[in-house]
Amino acid sequence: MESGPGMFVIFGASGDLTKRKLMPALYALFRQQLIPPQVAVVGVGRTAMANEAFREAMREGVSRYSEQQTDAGHVAEFSRRLYYESLDTEQDAAYPALKTKLAAIASDSGIPANCMFYLATPPSMYETIALRLAHHGFHQSNGTWRRIVIEKPFGYNLASAQALNEKLLRYWTEDQLYRIDHYLGKETVQNLLAFRFSNEIFEPLWNSHFIHHVQITSCESIGVDNRGKYYDGSGLMRDMVQNHLLQLVGMIAMEPPARFDARSVRNETIKVFESLKPLKGRDVERCVIRGQYTGATIRGEHVPGYREEKDVPPDSRTETFVAMRFFIDNWRWSGVPFYIRAGKRLPTRVTEAVIHFRPKAYQLFGKAKTAADSNQLIIRIQPDEGILLKFGMKLPGAGFNIKSVDMDFHYADLSEVYVPAAYERLLLDCWLGDATLFTRNDAVEACWKFVDPILEEWQNNPNIRLYGYPAGTWGPREADTASGLFAVFDYDEMRWRFPCKNLSNDGLYCEL
Ligand code: BG6
Repeated sequence: MESGPGMFVIFGASGDLTKRKLMPALYALFRQQLIPPQVAVVGVGRTAMANEAFREAMREGVSRYSEQQTDAGHVAEFSRRLYYESLDTEQDAAYPALKTKLAAIASDSGIPANCMFYLATPPSMYETIALRLAHHGFHQSNGTWRRIVIEKPFGYNLASAQALNEKLLRYWTEDQLYRIDHYLGKETVQNLLAFRFSNEIFEPLWNSHFIHHVQITSCESIGVDNRGKYYDGSGLMRDMVQNHLLQLVGMIAMEPPARFDARSVRNETIKVFESLKPLKGRDVERCVIRGQYTGATIRGEHVPGYREEKDVPPDSRTETFVAMRFFIDNWRWSGVPFYIRAGKRLPTRVTEAVIHFRPKAYQLFGKAKTAADSNQLIIRIQPDEGILLKFGMKLPGAGFNIKSVDMDFHYADLSEVYVPAAYERLLLDCWLGDATLFTRNDAVEACWKFVDPILEEWQNNPNIRLYGYPAGTWGPREADTASGLFAVFDYDEMRWRFPCKNLSNDGLYCEL
């Protein structure tokens, strides 16, 4: 793998992602000396801006959004490595100016022309920029290394993802393409692999004989904020399920890789995606519940409904919540339901996976409810990262009454350990040329293959309901009732785990 000194070129440099995530991550890598001091970060954007103004804006971003305490001296030193080039990225004729700029930086600073191009632009620009770069030869290594990082969503559906892959691969090689899904950079997501494949305690139980079902929840309390325009054309299925949530499924369900390298790990996750049992036609209505938040009062304050958000049409039918059940048709998981739930404007921000071990049909100590509450392994992805094991214990005293108790590990207890932000880890891996935590083209396409028929069914069948749920609640009731998604079980104790209660009770549960 090649790394060493080089240039980091960010398209979309005046956008939010650059300021909030990329710059703090690069600064953290620089401060820890994980990337060499001979680095140049070149921001590219349409907005006209001088180097110094860009440096000032990024210093502010780093200080405000870094997860760790920053040091003014270090930030200043880092910002001296920043440059800005204003460029109309749609215009092919504009690219030679970028070439001149990079060459000038290289000759002034002696930094070799190793380049990592990062597309932090609206998705509609990915193809244009990647192809224009190739047209001007930026993809050619000539003794250096050249890589390109593409943000999610990669494509809008299967056909567009295939077309984008096909076009990019005409010029860039798969080894140069880094399709980023920041969930894979989260420490706790990587720990799924370590936890599964370094502990022999759980692996023998990790299959349909012992696991009753798996729940994955990824909820946010925020709404769509200023992203209404993007979000309304995307919806939660494209924004979270097709990428982040299916990647979590891949990590939880994959077979052990032959080796711990990019090829072997990615060879295993693709098998999971290819084994997802398609949901088509009537299945979509039965197994996928979609919702959209309505206005409500949370802690005395009115929170607008999705249709009242900036740049969202008042009659929008875009989903901000999805709960679904599906199966993985393979040897290990056959018959085990996987539940996924994600949404905006829910009561809290939490991402967790819950492994429910199979309760015995015959309960020696009473109720099935206790067995359902215990026998759970909860992997908390964020916040309060950690692992919780729930098991039954005899209540001291007369009789044999069982109570569910917890064994709880928190990452925060490892006070001496620094937990890097997801982008920090991924930018470093890309800099080092390690693609293990990036998504390969076949995986992106396999995930679209699963999601596409659901989106098509929603589009073609207007009778499929879109449920309104009040902001600050756990989504439509239909996602939670025994008659709904959990109806496949014999007894109705099985339902979602709720890390906290609803925050509002005045909003509207309705059909939209
Ligand atoms: C992004 C989505 O990919 O992930 C956002 O576009 C979402 O809509 C975000 O808010 C969630 O990321 P995290 O790391 O806060 O869970």
